[in-house]
Amino acid sequence: MDKMNDLQTDSSIFSSLLLDWYGCSGRDLPWRKTRDPYKIWLSEVMLQQTTVAAVSAYYKRFLVRFPTVESLAAAPLEDVIDLWAGLGYYSRARNLYAAAKMVVEQFDGVFPEDAEALQQLPGVGRSTAGAVSALAFDRHAPILDGNVRRVLCRLFALQEPPRSAKAEKQLWCWSEKITPVENVHDFTQAIMDLGAMVCLPRKPLCDECPLVELCQANALGLEKELPLKQVAKQTPTRYDVALMIDHGDRYLVRRRNVDGFLGGLWEFPTISISAEDDSEQKSRQLLGHLNLEGSGKYVGCIQHVYSHFRLKSEIYYKQIENLFLISEEENVWFSLDELQNIALHGAHKKVLAKFQKERSLNVFTPDFDQDR
Ligand code: ADE
Repeated sequence: MDKMNDLQTDSSIFSSLLLDWYGCSGRDLPWRKTRDPYKIWLSEVMLQQTTVAAVSAYYKRFLVRFPTVESLAAAPLEDVIDLWAGLGYYSRARNLYAAAKMVVEQFDGVFPEDAEALQQLPGVGRSTAGAVSALAFDRHAPILDGNVRRVLCRLFALQEPPRSAKAEKQLWCWSEKITPVENVHDFTQAIMDLGAMVCLPRKPLCDECPLVELCQANALGLEKELPLKQVAKQTPTRYDVALMIDHGDRYLVRRRNVDGFLGGLWEFPTISISAEDDSEQKSRQLLGHLNLEGSGKYVGCIQHVYSHFRLKSEIYYKQIENLFLISEEENVWFSLDELQNIALHGAHKKVLAKFQKERSLNVFTPDFDQDR
């Protein structure tokens, strides 16, 4: 019998073994107590690339502030971004907001039930759409998030790079086949839990797995080898200078334009440079844009990796006495404590951490440079 025929006979065995296990070992998570599509959609978006442990508190806080899709759609985008501060991947917050507006303005506040229709919403890909359709409406809708991908690669001993087009097609096909027609809600939660709690990335707990007898990777002794590792792609490097400008222990930040890259997030004043540029001279230039003189003190360097480039950021520090030369428009001052709680983008969270570390080591001693 080929794999597909096996699957047709085994799919009901998969789901009954998995559902039995879930009944005893499944997690009790806040978004599992509801069938409200708004709440389930919110949790699924928050859980994209983020752990359950990190999401739980944000999910509860978000629902206190925005209990309905209407309340979310009516808020200013900046409030949504600020509430998202610390959760990362901020394009999710912008898409969430655009999707809420779409649901309210185009769908009369009612979420579509079917996975195909849900994919019209910004930020809702095929797997998130499947999860919302399955969890809120108990529809037969497969999912393929990171955990499920790993479970399926092992169950069927897939020996392809798991993100290749060929693997993608195969994995969706398997996910569709093993998703039952009934109990879809519980099955979907169960397979997510299996990936998160048992079929772990580096050390799968095969002794605890309800599907071990059906697992082809386990039969072949390949459970630690699969999924195959992705070959890292080469990305270009960009460079910039970031400035920590200190006025009485408050630091200057601005909000990035909401429509661009990292839109709506906060950052320290920054200037792009090339690999050959003298960063000190560029920090002088950046200070000049703020009507300040000098170049500041060198703090150190951080690196940050985005999906399409790597950033190297040289950090300078400048303490100033007078504010009168800096326009108030768009420039905001926050204390170090406040900076921990605003939606600084990831690279500048590292800038802040580096600055605080160097300062605590007294590697550079802040003192007043001559202001104009
Ligand atoms: N990851 C993505 N969706 C999830 C869910 N509903 N429960 C737990 N982990 C998840």
